[in-house]
Amino acid sequence: KTDEHADLYEAHELMAKFYRHLLLNTEEGSEALAYLHERGFTNEDIDRFQIGWAVPQPEFTVNVLQKRGFSAERMEAAGLIVRNEDSGRYFDRFRGRIMFPLHDQKGRVAGFSGRAFNGGQPKYLNSPETPIFHKSNLLYHFSAAKTAIKKKKQFILFEGFADVIAAVRSGFQQSVAVMGTSLTEEHIRQLKRLADQAVICYDGDKAGLNAAFKAADMLAQHDLNVKVTVLPEQLDPDEFIKQKGADAFSAYITDSSLTLMAFKMDYLKRGKNLRDDEQKFRYIEEVLTEIAGLKKAVERDHYLRRLADEFSLSLQALQEQEKALFLKKR
Ligand code: UTP
Ligand code: MN
Ligand code: MN
Ligand code: MN
Ligand code: MN
Repeated sequence: KTDEHADLYEAHELMAKFYRHLLLNTEEGSEALAYLHERGFTNEDIDRFQIGWAVPQPEFTVNVLQKRGFSAERMEAAGLIVRNEDSGRYFDRFRGRIMFPLHDQKGRVAGFSGRAFNGGQPKYLNSPETPIFHKSNLLYHFSAAKTAIKKKKQFILFEGFADVIAAVRSGFQQSVAVMGTSLTEEHIRQLKRLADQAVICYDGDKAGLNAAFKAADMLAQHDLNVKVTVLPEQLDPDEFIKQKGADAFSAYITDSSLTLMAFKMDYLKRGKNLRDDEQKFRYIEEVLTEIAGLKKAVERDHYLRRLADEFSLSLQALQEQEKALFLKKR
C-alpha cells in the first residue's frame, strides 16, 4: 500500500536532480542562477533546498521520464506533465521556471513550485492536487525543520518559501511556510506534536496582517503560545533580510515579536482614528471582546488595566463591560 505511488515519488526525485543539474551546470541555466544570486540565495541555499531550473523546451521532462520507462498516464497524474486535449500529446508542466521541490512530511519530493523570473505568469506555478501532493496539508521545510522545532519547542511560520529559505540562512532552522494558503487544522496537527510556541512572521502588508490575525487565533485555540512578528515598511521576511541583514532579522524576531493580545490591539487600531470618539469606542469594544475570550482571569485583568491606562478610563467601567461580553461569549 505504501508503495502504491512509489513511481510518482521516484519521478519527482529524478526530476529534482535533473533540474538542479540544469541550474548549476549548464549555460542555459546561468540566467536563472544569476537571478537567484541577485536575490541573495547562496549556493548553500540551492544545495540545501535542492533548487533547480526547468528548461523552456516543452518536452524535456516528457522525454526524460519516457526514456526511463515511466508511464505517461502516471506522470500526468503526478502533475509533472500535461496532456493536450486536442493533439493528445504530452508536454511539460514546468517550463523555464526556477524549481523548488516540495517535500512531504517524510521528506520525499511530492511536488514542485516553479517560479517565473522574467515576468511570466503566474509568479509561482504549483503542482496540482495529486495522489501524493496536497497543497493545503503541506508545510514547506517541515520534515527538515522537525528536529529544530522539537528541540526549541517552537516553530516560525511564514507565508512563502522564499522567506523560509532566507530565515534558515539567518539561523532559524525551525522555519516552515504554508504554501500561500490559509493555515489548516492539518498543519496545526503536525506542528502541535512538536512545539508549544508559535511565532507568526507573515508579510508586513495588509494581506499578510489579515492572514496573521486568522492564523494567530487558530493556533491559540489549539493551546499554542502565540507570538506575532509584524515587519516594518510592509516588507516580507525575505526582503527584510536582504535589506537589513540576518542579524537585524534575528534581533527583530527576538525583541519585537508581540504577544497575541498586543498584536490584536495593534491590528484593531489600524485604520482607526482614535481621537474620534465613535471610532475609539468601537476600538475599545473590539478589544474588550478579545479580552473576554481569554481563558485566564489574570490575563484578562492585565489587559483591562492596560486599556484603562491607555484611554484614561476607569477600570471598573471596563470590567463591567468586559463581563457583559464575557457572559455573552460563554
Ligand atoms: P508571495 O507573493 O508573498 O511570494 O506569496 P513570496 O514568497 O514573497 O515570493 P517571492 O519573494 O516573490 O519570490 C506567498 C506564497 O504564496 C504562494 C507561494 O507558495 C508563495 O511562497 N503563491 C504566490 C503561489 O502559489 N502562486 C503565486 O502566484 C504567488
Ligand atoms: Mn481544531
Ligand atoms: Mn504576500
Ligand atoms: Mn512575500
Ligand atoms: Mn518575497
